[in-house]
Order: sequence, then C-alpha cells, then structure tokens
Amino acid sequence: MTAAVLTEPKVAGVVGAGTMGAGIAQVCATAGLSVILVDVGMKQLERGKRIIADSLAKFEERRKLPHPVAEISGRIRTSTDVRDLGAAEVVIEAASEDTKIKLDLFRRLDQVCPPGAILASNTSSISLTRIGGATKRADRVVGMHFMNPAPVMPLVEIVRAIATTDEVVEAIRALSVRFGKTPVVTKDSPGFLANRILVPMLNEACFAFEEGLGTREDIDTVMRLGMSHPMGPLALADFIGLDVLLGVLEVFQRDLGDPKYRPAPILRRYVDAGWLGRKTGRGFYEYPTGTVA
Ligand SMILES: NC(=O)c1ccc[n+]([C@@H]2O[C@H](COP(=O)([O-])OP(=O)(O)OC[C@H]3O[C@@H](n4cnc5c(N)ncnc54)[C@H](O)[C@@H]3O)[C@@H](O)[C@H]2O)c1
Repeated sequence: MTAAVLTEPKVAGVVGAGTMGAGIAQVCATAGLSVILVDVGMKQLERGKRIIADSLAKFEERRKLPHPVAEISGRIRTSTDVRDLGAAEVVIEAASEDTKIKLDLFRRLDQVCPPGAILASNTSSISLTRIGGATKRADRVVGMHFMNPAPVMPLVEIVRAIATTDEVVEAIRALSVRFGKTPVVTKDSPGFLANRILVPMLNEACFAFEEGLGTREDIDTVMRLGMSHPMGPLALADFIGLDVLLGVLEVFQRDLGDPKYRPAPILRRYVDAGWLGRKTGRGFYEYPTGTVA
C-alpha cells in the first residue's frame, strides 16, 4: 500500500461502539469515510447507533454538519464479527480499557485486516508498544487518542510507539486534520501528554481540599476564574470518575516510579466508600437522583 492511499483512506473500521467508539465512527463518517463499526453484540451496537443519532441530531440543530444526517449515518455499517474489517484501510480500536481484550483484539485484527492497513488504538493508558508487540506489523500500530466527546473535542494525541514509522504517524496526522482535529504527536509513555499533565493537577486539588486550603467551591473557583478552566478540578474529577482517576495515578506511580504521583488519601477513601463522582451520585459534590447524565 502506498503512502498516498494511507493518507486518503476511504474505508475505516472502528472497534467498540461505546462512548468513544460511537463518537469516533461519527467523526469518520462525517468526514466522508465508509465505516464498519464492530462490537461484541447487537445490544452494544444498538446503543452505539443511538449515541450517534443523538449526537448527529444536536450537530444538525446547530447547522454544523457538512452533509444531511441520513447520508452520514448511512455510511456506518455495523457488525459483530471482526472479519468484516477485511476491507478497512485504517482501524481505530476503542474497545474496553483492558489489556487482555486489547492484545487479543490486535492479534485478531492483524490476521483479518489487509497487510497495509494501519491499526490505531484510542487507549488512554495501555502501552502502544505492548499492543504493537501483539501483531506482526508493529510499524503500523499507533495511538490515536481522541478526547471525550470525540465529535466535539478538537484534540487528537498521536502516540508513536517504539516501532511506529514516520509514514504511519504522518498518515494519522493527515487523517486527524481531515477530521477537523488538531493533532499533537507524543511518545508512548503513561498518560501520554494530556493525562500526564491533567491527572497530577487533579490530584493536587484533592490534596488541597484534604489539607483544608479552601472549600471545594474555592478550589474550583480558583481554577475556573484564575486559570480560565471551563470546569474546576474537583468537579472535573467527579465527572471523570474518582475510581478512574485513582487507577491512572496508580499506573503513574507504578510505571514512572516517582512518589510525586502518590494518590491523595482522600481519593482512595472516597473510592472505598463508593463515592465515585457523578456516576454514583456523590463524589466531591452531591448529584441528587435525576441530575446525573
Ligand atoms: N471515556 C473516555 O472519556 C475516554 C477518553 C479517551 C479514551 N478513552 C478510551 O477509549 C476506549 C473506550 O472507552 P469507552 O469510554 O468508549 O468505553 P465503553 O465501555 O463506553 O465502550 C467500550 C466498548 O467496547 C466493547 N468491547 C469490549 N470488548 C470488545 C471486543 N473484543 N470487540 C469489540 N468490542 C468490544 C464493549 O462492548 C463496549 O461497547 C478505552 O480504551 C478508553 O481508555 C476513553
């Protein structure tokens, strides 16, 4: 496959039809690609299609679509069988964040996708070098890390694993631009760039709260009004999920070996108590039933 084909793919595979996979499929279809969206069952695919329909309706309301909704959604086919990715020139994997699932999937994708296809992963924390090692085409494995919600957020982190070629990085950079995104290339290291910077900041806000430096509102106000962050760090931690945040900090501590990544004790206590943030109705803030999205 030539570089020209790589930069202008017409057929994309998206694996995983959850929050991120559905958004990524929508982004691909909006940019004019034919998409094969794969998940393990019909229920998951139906959910993914609903996420896409709701999101496209909102884009249409704001007149932000280049083509009619029916044309865009008509470009997305669904399947429960990865063998249907046999024609994909690029695959973006957005399955559950579980190392075994990802390694098994990439082994399988390597077998069923054309030899020239690029295999990208949207993983937030798993080493791309490790994922590439599960395939016989580590040179064509790369991270393509979208932010949530993928159709809205303008950043894509491109993660270069140890064996990823320049040609593949450039192809993914061009694809990101075609999606209307701004790509940033980063090395394969825990948290890449975005979470490496964001997560310690959120952790520091938890320490500040625990030490009584201010109320939760004070801490969030300082970062919103003083730093122009759209959301304060404690509200954002609740939004992400305190268990997710704790998990990332534990990975940083283990893999980077620096005590500065020690999770704030209050974070662990809240997680132990089942106060995981918005999704459980309580974290640093309370979310009465009915207000949780
Ligand atoms: N949610 C976020 O804010 C966010 C942001 C950036 C990156 N990510 C990353 O995106 C990926 C997906 O996250 P999500 O939040 O969309 O998760 P999710 O739980 O909403 O969706 C994951 C989907 O993957 C499917 N899946 C699991 N095993 C599969 C397999 N073998 N084949 C096909 N599909 C399979 C599940 O059925 C599910 O529908 C993860 O790697 C995560 O780290 C998430």
